[in-house]
Amino acid sequence: MKRTLNRVARAVRDLAFGAPDPPIMTQMIRRDSRSATFFAALDYINYEKIPGDVLEFGVFTGLSLALFAQGHAFDPKGMTRRFVGFDSFEGLPPSAEAHARWQPADCAVNHGWHPLIPIGARVTPQVTQDLFAACGLQPPALHIGPFSETVHRVVPSVYPQIALMHIDCDLYESTRDALTLAAPALQDGVMLMFDDWFHYRSHPQKGQSRALSEFLRSHAEWTAVPYRGYATFCQAFILSRR
Ligand SMILES: C[S@@+](CC[C@H](N)C(=O)[O-])C[C@H]1O[C@@H](n2cnc3c(N)ncnc32)[C@H](O)[C@@H]1O
Repeated sequence: MKRTLNRVARAVRDLAFGAPDPPIMTQMIRRDSRSATFFAALDYINYEKIPGDVLEFGVFTGLSLALFAQGHAFDPKGMTRRFVGFDSFEGLPPSAEAHARWQPADCAVNHGWHPLIPIGARVTPQVTQDLFAACGLQPPALHIGPFSETVHRVVPSVYPQIALMHIDCDLYESTRDALTLAAPALQDGVMLMFDDWFHYRSHPQKGQSRALSEFLRSHAEWTAVPYRGYATFCQAFILSRR
């Protein structure tokens, strides 16, 4: 009886004042169509005991990096991992490949839903740090600058083993740099998640598809096993040592 009364009281309150927003992380998980695959990929690296860290290339406002950190916290299966982001925080660099929508400097300001900042706000590393704090997550390590200037300073010296690499930097050149510079820390079973796989109308000689096929041609020790396609444009692979 008491439970029914509580439910009725809550329903009346929600009707009168509007339902309270769910916590930030719950909103992020619900709004992001990649969440389920992020969590499945974490489950895979944890279950298979792939050691090492989760590295993201292309952080923007920190939504995807925070989802990875939260997903790991749900069920780490005893694995310890660091959550690491690389980004210039200056938006997309120029590219020799034209895309129907993207322009240089896209992503320098916020262009979508974010729990802390409005559309049009400047994107800085502090936005990601604030998001992690608001979600109760440990602060991530952020390496600020073009991949070509930052990654070689910390891979493999600080991050000797990558368990999962989230490559969300849109362009062929950026993806090529991320893969080449991360190569010394790749290992058998590492999960590679490409956020922009089916852009450029899925042309196999453009964008992220071009970058991975060139990488595999020049690194004959690796073969890429398709894991799954997800959301609208994304595709994940597992690297297997020949
Ligand atoms: C689409 S956003 C990332 C979105 C984010 N992962 C998310 O889901 O919320 C792409 C980001 O890649 C960064 N980026 C692209 N190429 C880069 C490069 N060569 N070096 C550093 N950052 C780069 C841009 O600054 C931009 O913030």
